[in-house]
Amino acid sequence: MLLQKLWARQRRRLLKWSITVNRYRNIKLWGAAGLVHDLFDAPRPAIKKTSVSMDVDRVLVARLLENYRALTQDFGTEFTIWPDVAPLHRALTAGDADSLASQFGRLFQDNLLLGMGHAETLYFGERVWRPGFQELRMTDTLLALGEALGVLSLPSHAQMKLIDYVTAMHTDQNALFGKIEAVLAFSLEMPRVGNPPVFTLNGISTNADMVRHAYVANRIRQLGVGPQEAIVELGGGFGSLGLLANRAGFRNYTIIDLPVVGAIQTYFLGSALGRDAVSGYRENPAAMRVLPPPSFGEIPDRSVALSINMDSLPEIPRPEALAYLREIRRTSRQFLSINQEASAPHEVRLERQTIVSDMIEEVGGFERIYRFPYWIIEGYAEELYRVV
Ligand SMILES: C[S@@+](CC[C@H](N)C(=O)[O-])C[C@H]1O[C@@H](n2cnc3c(N)ncnc32)[C@H](O)[C@@H]1O
Repeated sequence: MLLQKLWARQRRRLLKWSITVNRYRNIKLWGAAGLVHDLFDAPRPAIKKTSVSMDVDRVLVARLLENYRALTQDFGTEFTIWPDVAPLHRALTAGDADSLASQFGRLFQDNLLLGMGHAETLYFGERVWRPGFQELRMTDTLLALGEALGVLSLPSHAQMKLIDYVTAMHTDQNALFGKIEAVLAFSLEMPRVGNPPVFTLNGISTNADMVRHAYVANRIRQLGVGPQEAIVELGGGFGSLGLLANRAGFRNYTIIDLPVVGAIQTYFLGSALGRDAVSGYRENPAAMRVLPPPSFGEIPDRSVALSINMDSLPEIPRPEALAYLREIRRTSRQFLSINQEASAPHEVRLERQTIVSDMIEEVGGFERIYRFPYWIIEGYAEELYRVV
């Protein structure tokens, strides 16, 4: 009897604790190992390894190599690289088309995209995250996009019983995904380039990068940028925002990034959109351009409707980041920044990461139009600036 009473009390405590945990639906907390993941009571879509991948486009690989050669002839090879991309850097420098083709064929299976995308190593490999984190992340991203677009109403713990608040996370994810695609009117399908791990929602293969970047592609539209107006994205990851912006109808999109990462973007976008849809350094401009940092200087004054930087400027050395902001001020009419402000010590360099709004103040000539927490990931500020 006594034991039963004690057990009942323990169960009530556990339930209370579990509900408390479930109130905090945010990625940061999930990063913590421990019981949090197990107590977190939300449906998790199943992640699938893909076995079917597009064949590697060898013409695109050859073009990309030619491009890289031209670029290093003009600017040298002194661009930043980090250990994850070193094998790609070696293949590009050696002009080794076979190695490049093989690395691109496994783009989402190796560590090349760590920090830039949700690759297989994050889901199935030697995880830095607890098992289940990525699936939870997918759930959170999807709910957040639904709430941001207004196709899912926001729960409020001031208005709801705790248990109803928690249950609000139990939405039908297939139906939610369908509504999101219908409202956006562009597809969130993850292209089968480089064997990406995917979730199937409402019959569509997708992943967290498609969901989180769809929010930004939609924001570009909301800001009134016309389909032929110039957009510059500084630091474009593997090209997923570029792809979604293209699907949303934007046809004048330039990514500025380090040459090695530019090679990834050219390959990913060229495979997903067709090789003629993408151009590189010294090539005739296509709807989607991938250019190295020195090419920023060739973009005419005030010719860009919107420059974007997402999850990138804080990790770039401060003097370089300030120089980018000056280029943005010279070339652009508006600047959209979605960046974290934790000012954490940099992993490699002996300095702290920067805060975009501090640097904007130092550079001058920007007026902030809005600032609010980024809907999709906790800990990021979304800010829109007008260049004055
Ligand atoms: C963390 S990733 C974020 C990628 C993408 N914006 C996203 O949200 O997924 C940082 C991006 O900044 C780029 N980057 C890093 N250092 C850079 C530099 N010095 N100049 C230009 N781009 C840089 C990286 O190559 C990468 O594309």
